[in-house]
Parts: sequence; structure tokens; C-alpha cells
Amino acid sequence: MAEVVYGVATSHVPAIGAAIDNGKENTPYWRPLFEGYEGARKWMADADPDVIILAYNDHASAFDLDLIPTFAIGVADEFPIADEGYGPRDIPKVVGYPELAWHLAESLILNGFDMTIVNDLPVDHGLTVPLSIMYGKPDKWPAKVIPLAVNVIQYPPPTGQRCFALGRAIRNAVQTFPDGDNLKVAVFGTGGMSHQLQGERAGWINTPFDSAFLDRLADDPEGLTEISHTELLRDAGSEGIELVMWLIMRGALSRQVREVHRHYHVPASNTAAGLIIFEGSEALVSM
Ligand code: DHB
Ligand code: FE
Repeated sequence: MAEVVYGVATSHVPAIGAAIDNGKENTPYWRPLFEGYEGARKWMADADPDVIILAYNDHASAFDLDLIPTFAIGVADEFPIADEGYGPRDIPKVVGYPELAWHLAESLILNGFDMTIVNDLPVDHGLTVPLSIMYGKPDKWPAKVIPLAVNVIQYPPPTGQRCFALGRAIRNAVQTFPDGDNLKVAVFGTGGMSHQLQGERAGWINTPFDSAFLDRLADDPEGLTEISHTELLRDAGSEGIELVMWLIMRGALSRQVREVHRHYHVPASNTAAGLIIFEGSEALVSM
């Protein structure tokens, strides 16, 4: 049976990708951030998931204000690296898993989540930077990736409750994948933590809020789903709303999880960069 056994949540700041691509990980500015990623990369090499279902938001690369899917799933064989204005990043192509993606689409839609199905999906920093954070610079990405794009750009985004419920539905869908013999599935939630890129509060960071969010994610995710959009905007900043995607990851894991790694660093560009890794109870059984 296929199982969601790993959960990773991480910020997806584009400048982190640029630092990796341009060999700047050891500069005084970036070193403290990347030091905290070392343990995560070691864990990732050992955990070695077969496939990553990666919840991220597109930043006007594949979609723009003409078309705003709330939840979209990429079902293609491959996903090109988006050109975000300075040429596509020089990183391996992202290889999909159409059989599982279509199974997810079917299961989620039949269970009431009206997913948008996407065949042509260039992926931007929201998806690629988390891969670079976790894998560094491999010749090819070790796992297949199913992109799950979430609208957090244009009001109204989905609620935390809906995102958590989507995670739960993903968990169930993965378990019923017929070709999933011992398939190890990771779910990523990306974006956050507190940051605001616009307006009077541009540069907003709220470390006490972020710390509490990290503390509660393992044992009180339902409590986190009760944070309203207004509270998220106020406390985590306008782009801190991306944190709802962390709840998709948490919803996809077992009720009990083990935290295996955590890192928090301010600043990374304009963002409080957070990273947290969980193993679900199934992963523990096999240890
Ligand atoms: C930054 C953070 C983001 O989440 C993003 O999508 C773009 C930029 C930043 O901190 O610069
Ligand atoms: Fe973002």
C-alpha cells in the first residue's frame, strides 16, 4: 500500500534558490540559513521518498489574474521550469507521476474537492526552491513530483480548515492507489513563514507568531486551522497567508507525528524562513 509517511514544510523564498544556483551558500548573509538546512538534507537523503505531493502557490507564472484555480493538480509527465523574468533556473526538469496524479484527482473530486486538472504547468520558485532546499543541486531530482497549486495570491484563498481537510483527503487517496506497492510518499507544504512584500508593512516579520505556529503544528493542527484569514494577515503579514499550505501537509500525515528537524532564521530576503520535518506513525513503524 502507498502511504504518506513524511511531511516537510518550508519557506520558498526565490533568493534562496538564487543563492544555491550561484554558489552563495557560504557567504556571511546566507551561511546561518544554510547551516540549518544541512540536517534536513541528510534526513532527506535517508528518507528518500518515491514521490512528493508538493503544495505550493504559483506566483503569476502558470496562472495570472485571468485564471485563478483555488486548488490545481498537475497530471503531466513533466513540468517545465518557469521563466520568472530572469530566465528559467538552471535546475533539472521536474518529473511527474501521471498515474498517481490522476488517481488523486479522481479520488479528491469524487470526495468533494473540485480540483482543477492541469496538463501544462510551468513550475516557479514556489515549487522549485523547496526541492533545492531539500536536495541541493542533484543531476536529477530523486523523487517524482505532483504539483498541487493553491491560490493564496488573490483574495479569497481557501481556509486553513479546507486545506487541512484536503490534506486528509490526500492521505486517504494515496492509501487507495492501486499501483502503490510500498510507495513512500512525502507531502510538502511551502511558503511562509511571516512576511509581507507590499504596502506600509512591507518587511513585516513576527517571530513569536511563527514560533507558536511551529510549536503547534505537530500536536494542535486543528487549533491552527481556526486562525482566520484576517488574523493571519495581521499576524503573519499579507504573504504569510501562504502558511495555509502547511496545513495541507499536516492534514496528510497521521494524527501522531514525530518532529525530526526544525530550523528558523530571520531574515531570508524579506521572509522569516522556517523549515519543519515530520515523520508519520507509519514511517516510525518501519524504523
Ligand atoms: C519572497 C518570499 C516569497 O514567499 C515569495 O514568493 C517571493 C519573495 C521574499 O522574501 O523575497
Ligand atoms: Fe511566496
